[in-house]
Amino acid sequence: MTSYREAIIADLPAICRLGQVVNLLHHEALPHIFSPVSDPQRDIVYWRKGIENIGATTYVAETSGEIVGFVAVDVATEKHTQLQPVCFARIGSICVSESSRGQGIGRELMARAEHWAVSNGAVDIRLNVWSFNQSAFRLYEELGYEIRSMFLGKALTHDET
Ligand SMILES: CC(C)(COP(=O)(O)OP(=O)(O)OC[C@H]1O[C@@H](n2cnc3c(N)ncnc32)[C@H](O)[C@@H]1OP(=O)(O)O)[C@@H](O)C(=O)NCCC(=O)NCCS
Repeated sequence: MTSYREAIIADLPAICRLGQVVNLLHHEALPHIFSPVSDPQRDIVYWRKGIENIGATTYVAETSGEIVGFVAVDVATEKHTQLQPVCFARIGSICVSESSRGQGIGRELMARAEHWAVSNGAVDIRLNVWSFNQSAFRLYEELGYEIRSMFLGKALTHDET
């Protein structure tokens, strides 16, 4: 059985390991954008903020005492004069270990993140997914997320002469 709770500092090594899984996936698809994986502890300062910062949290999924998934979420308010000053939530990262996928853990983590977002005043929730990542996109689509923006990019070549 899988249980869900907010992460504590002692979960950081497991979150770092899962964070590397997300990193590797993105590096393999877009090596010119995402760095290769290295020391699993490299990103510990970043993941720690998702536990300690005000207006942020991380949920973990635990099966038989092992962390098998996490989601990081925070809230923010738009400051631009042309945007409505709404409080919205951002999914920073989500990962379920490969052997635990397809059992509804990702869906449940997203539900926890959304519930936390509502409790923290958010009226909207947003996330970024790269276009190669169709399995993540399918999950978000099933959960009611819609494409609102398209983020374009192009590699530029530099003439050696
Ligand atoms: C995206 C990700 C978090 C989804 O996690 P997950 O636990 O596999 O998600 P779920 O099980 O809730 O749903 C995924 C699939 O399982 C299916 N599913 C859900 N509950 C199920 C159950 N009880 N039994 C069988 N299948 C189930 C869903 O319908 C969905 O199927 P589909 O993808 O074929 O449409 C996971 O694939 C992952 O960690 N990917 C790598 C990291 C990543 O890409 N992160 C997102 C970056 S934007």
